[in-house]
Amino acid sequence: MNTLGQDAKNHATAVGLNVDRITINGGKPLVGRIELKGAKNLVTKAMVAAILGDTPSVLKDVPNISDVRIVRGLLEVHGVTVTDGPVEGELILDPSAVETAHMADIDAHAGSSRIPILFCGPLLHRLGEAFIPDLGGCRIGDRPIDYHLEVLRNFGAIVEKLPSGIRMSAPDGLHGAKVALPYPSVGATEQVLLTAVLADGITELSGAAIEPEIMDLINILQKMGAIITVDTDRVIRIEGVDKLDGYTHRALFDRNEAASWAAAALATEGDIFVGGARQAEMLTFLNVFRKVGGDFDIAEDGIRFFHPGGDLKPVIIETDVHPGFMTDWQQPLVVALSKAKGVSIVHETVYEQRFGFVDALVEMGASIEVHKECLGSAACRFGQRNFKHSAVISGPSRLTGADIEVPDLRGGFSHLIAALTADGRSTVSNVGIIARGYENFITKLELLGADFELDA
Ligand code: EPZ
Repeated sequence: MNTLGQDAKNHATAVGLNVDRITINGGKPLVGRIELKGAKNLVTKAMVAAILGDTPSVLKDVPNISDVRIVRGLLEVHGVTVTDGPVEGELILDPSAVETAHMADIDAHAGSSRIPILFCGPLLHRLGEAFIPDLGGCRIGDRPIDYHLEVLRNFGAIVEKLPSGIRMSAPDGLHGAKVALPYPSVGATEQVLLTAVLADGITELSGAAIEPEIMDLINILQKMGAIITVDTDRVIRIEGVDKLDGYTHRALFDRNEAASWAAAALATEGDIFVGGARQAEMLTFLNVFRKVGGDFDIAEDGIRFFHPGGDLKPVIIETDVHPGFMTDWQQPLVVALSKAKGVSIVHETVYEQRFGFVDALVEMGASIEVHKECLGSAACRFGQRNFKHSAVISGPSRLTGADIEVPDLRGGFSHLIAALTADGRSTVSNVGIIARGYENFITKLELLGADFELDA
């Protein structure tokens, strides 16, 4: 039972931002049903893709999260009209009046997002210039954009580094390019896709990322009139076309949110039906979920994730690009691993510093050590470079409530799960970060029976 008054709950639910701290009384299983919207890591890029169309686009199942609000603001400062459609979660994006924005306005709206870098290709096609402020994003490593800048230069863009950011221009337009990514970067693959579709000639991208969110972006671009093939060897070829029209598209569901609530069900010994989740895009997660001791039922309208009883079992996880175990899935699952009987290992091979969140779990009683060695056989760029990117989790541990602070988006959700699992009260502060990627997470916690109070 939580003590939130209805009007405060509505306010917190609606805004999801003014909530800075939440006090959780742990130990209660989460039980109930929640509904997913479109994937944060697809929807934000689909909104940018609308700039490329000569006519308005309609995007459906858009989640009410701050990353979407940031991209909406950035589109509007560039003259794109964004209006709410007649159905909840529907956006209508009209790029007909797209214009150069003032650098100060872009900077003011960019906030903590990395999405501005993906505006470059579309703005260079439409306006011949683009400006990118210094980028934000979760502090989970250096988060460079060298691949992006190299890609844009390959297409013929002139890139100037300014004190306040990066200015780009393409006086002679953009031409097709032959790009080989040194690492299957999701963002750099999206950069190529959003630039190549209107470039003059053929683009060949090798070493591409092929995450489901990338494939859904390709679906969108094809609807607009683009010609894109994806070969078995991760080579994507794009034939530039002269014009693109707006799209109408229902966004792919959010796999990361689904995995997060599944991990919460396991750690709290609960039972959560995640409406909208689909098996195909979560295959690898479902295998690991089952190996840890969780169980699931695949329904036509979602997936039921539950703790079937018995001890949780230790596993060895090596994160990787799709179809491997997603880097965004490991943080929420680590809390359940701290309850497993035995020693688990998580070798994080995508980001060099994505275990900052474990400090709070250790403070609550978890037994987790992070190491700079590669503890696994997967190829990894971080071995012997002093990055603590392997975690050893020994269990079972009992967590005790504590005052903890959210470090980043997925680590923050892990903190929520830890507080929900721990004995006693925890205060989790800086929870506004969680609203970046989890729509109405406070309402969902309430729907699932969590016992909490909000300290706005
Ligand atoms: C996207 O980030 C997602 N974010 C991340 O989700 C996700 O973890 C990541 O892809 C991997 O799946 C969005 O889509 C908004 P990358 P992105 O480029 O595109 C290095 C979440 O919690 N790299 O695939 O930024 C980079 O440092 C977020 O929802 C370069 O070196 O990820 C990293 O080590 C977290 N140079 C690796 O590639 C570059 O120019 C993977 O990064 C670009 C990337």
